Amino acid sequence: MCGIFGYINYLVERDRGYILDTLVKGLKRLEYRGYDSAGCAVDGDEGQDAMMFKEVGNVSQLENTINRSNVKKDTKFINHCAISHTRWATHGQPSPVNCHPQRSDLHSEFIVVHNGILTNYRELKTVLESRGMVFESETDTECVAKLAKFIYDTTPGIDFTSLAKLVFRELEGAYALLIKSSHYPGEIVATRRGSPLIVGVKSSQNLKVDFVDVEFPESSEGLPGAAPNTLHPRFSKTPGTSGMLRGDKPDLLHRAQSRAFVTEEGVPGPIEYFFASDATPIIEYTKRVMFLEDDDIAHVSDGELHVHRLRREEGMSSTRTIETLEMEIMSIMKGNYDHYMIKEICEQPDSLLNTMRGRVNFADRVVTLGGLESYYDIIRQSRRLVFIACGTSYHSCIAVRPIFEELTGVPVVIELASDFMDRCPNIFRDDTIVFVSQSGETADSLLALNFCLERGALTIGVVNCVGSSISRKTHCGVHINAGPEICVASTKAYTSQYIALALMALYLSRDSVSKANRRNEIIDGLAKIGEKVQEALHLSSRLKEYASQHLLEKGNMLIIGRGYQYATAMEGALKVKEISYTHAEGILAGELKHGVLALVEEGLPIIMLVPDDFQYPKAVNAFEQIRARGGKPIVITTKDSETFKGLPTFIVPKTVDCLQGILNVIPFQLLSYWLAVLRGHNVDQPRNLAKSVTVE
Ligand code: AGP
Ligand code: GLU
Repeated sequence: MCGIFGYINYLVERDRGYILDTLVKGLKRLEYRGYDSAGCAVDGDEGQDAMMFKEVGNVSQLENTINRSNVKKDTKFINHCAISHTRWATHGQPSPVNCHPQRSDLHSEFIVVHNGILTNYRELKTVLESRGMVFESETDTECVAKLAKFIYDTTPGIDFTSLAKLVFRELEGAYALLIKSSHYPGEIVATRRGSPLIVGVKSSQNLKVDFVDVEFPESSEGLPGAAPNTLHPRFSKTPGTSGMLRGDKPDLLHRAQSRAFVTEEGVPGPIEYFFASDATPIIEYTKRVMFLEDDDIAHVSDGELHVHRLRREEGMSSTRTIETLEMEIMSIMKGNYDHYMIKEICEQPDSLLNTMRGRVNFADRVVTLGGLESYYDIIRQSRRLVFIACGTSYHSCIAVRPIFEELTGVPVVIELASDFMDRCPNIFRDDTIVFVSQSGETADSLLALNFCLERGALTIGVVNCVGSSISRKTHCGVHINAGPEICVASTKAYTSQYIALALMALYLSRDSVSKANRRNEIIDGLAKIGEKVQEALHLSSRLKEYASQHLLEKGNMLIIGRGYQYATAMEGALKVKEISYTHAEGILAGELKHGVLALVEEGLPIIMLVPDDFQYPKAVNAFEQIRARGGKPIVITTKDSETFKGLPTFIVPKTVDCLQGILNVIPFQLLSYWLAVLRGHNVDQPRNLAKSVTVE
């Protein structure tokens, strides 16, 4: 949810126009994450305050505001720090004053952008107000800017890193933050906890080493950096007793020159840095990125990037690697498609192959998952396999449950992350917990992951976004390699999760001779899945026509499936709900007679999944029950039959029963897409939703 983008240049001359364009372009790339308002800050002219632009609505409106202003675009800078933000309001309505950046005072001495929620902001605000600070917004974020100024004003000579440490250790909650300040021109500090933040590095010179040393305080005892989150109790004492007010000295830092960034002459060369919530706004400039760990404090000053920690922690790596991303710019462009959603739906034949690439040997019918290899025995001997996820990712777990149960024989439990955290059920050391997530940043899933890690269970990430929190925090995992998914409604990630999980079930049963035939049948099915998805995509125009003629006026829909198709029904209903804003329910066919039949009447759109497999007789039973009550189901099946005569029937290609859901979900993706387009909705960014749900 929301996005952060920051840019800093050093010895690379850029004018203000270029910098503003870069910010706007960066924010546009982050739009898909969902937001309600946007803003940015750049330096003013010599001796002038920083300039801020804010706008409720979309980034184009912010761009117009910038263009309409009389900002001098040709002022040149060889070292400049700029920050920007798309906001998804948690504290205070979307309004110009609540937009980020938030400032410390009328002269904007400290300017902050923030993604996430500060849970102790009320306490901080009360304390800061008691020190005479006047708040202008309703945001939780503003207290960060004000706290920074407060510490600056009361600590003569403090450097930016020490100041940032004193600020960050007082914050509770989840956040990614960038701070710029007129007191530290051309510098930026950044940190994260629970919300993503990565740093892109662009330099025409080769970096001397591809890592950054982490700098720890030499001693933690007695220094302000010793204990985290202590401002509240200390401030609640009499004024003047908090660490910095007592006159404590800033941390004794082990200050090293950053080895990566100095040239042969021992000084930093021309360089540009990009800070962002994910890689999409960065890759058009550089593919070299560094993922910040929770509580890392990144500081760029005089062209050097440093990473600091408040204290040493056991097991914490003392370096951060500068990695080279494989993502291509084309993968985040819409190309000739009208929307990302339809592009991503149509990409599925390829994205599915990418999920299997290098993992399935179709000739020998062998599946290899390198990311799980060292944990194979532990997983096999697990007491239970517990899958935890939200939304579409949860549906992919439901879809593969039967395959795991059939092939591995290990008991399977599936949990919605939010419900799991409401209950905090027993988790055992010999459980294996699988976290499935497109973004890898979903707050509910991350909380559940921390819960399971604390209980000593083995955790596996099945994630699309490389470098995301879930992929980094789990012990091992499988990247689904679907490529960037920009549309809020998940499509290709669902089918790739399905395949990645099916591969996992196949892999975990590799030693079972009794399952060999079934395994081979599934692997043969996987070999042809791409071309069958391609075939299913041909239903697009018929579905569009059907939607425009019969469904546009409808406000409710039932989607009915059973067995392998229960997940399809739920995922189909979610797609219809989230982008066409039509109420839709995915219903297990076996449950019809237990209540839902009461809803059936002529005119209610009912979509039935009737695959031609061992479930066919039972599926037809449900079909007949609906027909007997005047219902006229729309049928999605693999083989036409007299039974469906006179009813709208959509035939999808047939595959192995347990993979059929991959093909059956395609008509729902297309149907919801066309319904949304025909109704004139914002397909890629449906109302009220965000791509990456980083709040509980
Ligand atoms: C899917 O279309 C939704 N956008 C949503 O349900 C999503 O799947 C859910 O928020 C989980 O996200 P994740 O996969 O990134 O964890
Ligand atoms: N909590 C902050 C606010 O409401 C940041 C929200 C966001 O992540 O955009 O302003």
